[in-house]
Amino acid sequence: MDTEALDELAGQLRGEALGGRGLLQLAAATGLAAYAVWAAVLMPGFRRVPLHLQVPYLPSSAQQVANVMALLRGRSGKTADLGSGDGRLVLEAHKQGLRPAVGYELNPWLLWFAKYRAWKAGCHGQVSFLKQDLWKANLSDCYNVTVFLAPSVKPPLAAKLLAELPDEARVVAGRFPFPSWTPSSTLGQGLEQAWAYDMKEVRRMARCGGTPGVTA
Ligand SMILES: C[S@@+](CC[C@H](N)C(=O)[O-])C[C@H]1O[C@@H](n2cnc3c(N)ncnc32)[C@H](O)[C@@H]1O
Repeated sequence: MDTEALDELAGQLRGEALGGRGLLQLAAATGLAAYAVWAAVLMPGFRRVPLHLQVPYLPSSAQQVANVMALLRGRSGKTADLGSGDGRLVLEAHKQGLRPAVGYELNPWLLWFAKYRAWKAGCHGQVSFLKQDLWKANLSDCYNVTVFLAPSVKPPLAAKLLAELPDEARVVAGRFPFPSWTPSSTLGQGLEQAWAYDMKEVRRMARCGGTPGVTA
């Protein structure tokens, strides 16, 4: 038997060893490993959150933070960042006099990092990072709410905010607007854009069946 024939035979044997069942096992193992990385590293703490409501971590850019904060300038009262990541929006809110400033986050690594950042910024004990599912948080005493979350969760989030926030509350969304709400103002372009919504106006427009636009 020559070398070429031997190589062919070896190839056939390898193929047979893996076979259909082997390929299936390999695919299952790869899927399981990918899920383990997703669950343990990227989304720890999210076991009880339905998959369609899970939003991965992506920090706001410096310009995005500046735009969100500019849309909250001159305001006061309790401020919450829904899905606070490393705490950058909460810390900026506190520095801007929006107090108390609270972040809701489920990822324990990010919670730890946010607390470390607060300590480093000299804000230890003055801001709160709560390990709480934002969908279960009671927002009825929040007057300023910041959200940088995926477009897919905006409709259920809009329903929650409409049901819970006081009329005087302002919601500022970074990067993705609320598709069915009319913003009071907006700042920035492209990925840095942020939209401000005043709940009283959002409710008024909803009653009138208004189409989205900018009211100011
Ligand atoms: C796109 S990141 C935004 C982080 C931060 N707000 C910022 O602007 O830099 C979304 C964050 O929401 C968190 N998150 C997603 N779903 C959540 C939930 N149900 N409860 C609490 N936090 C959640 C994620 O862990 C992630 O850190």
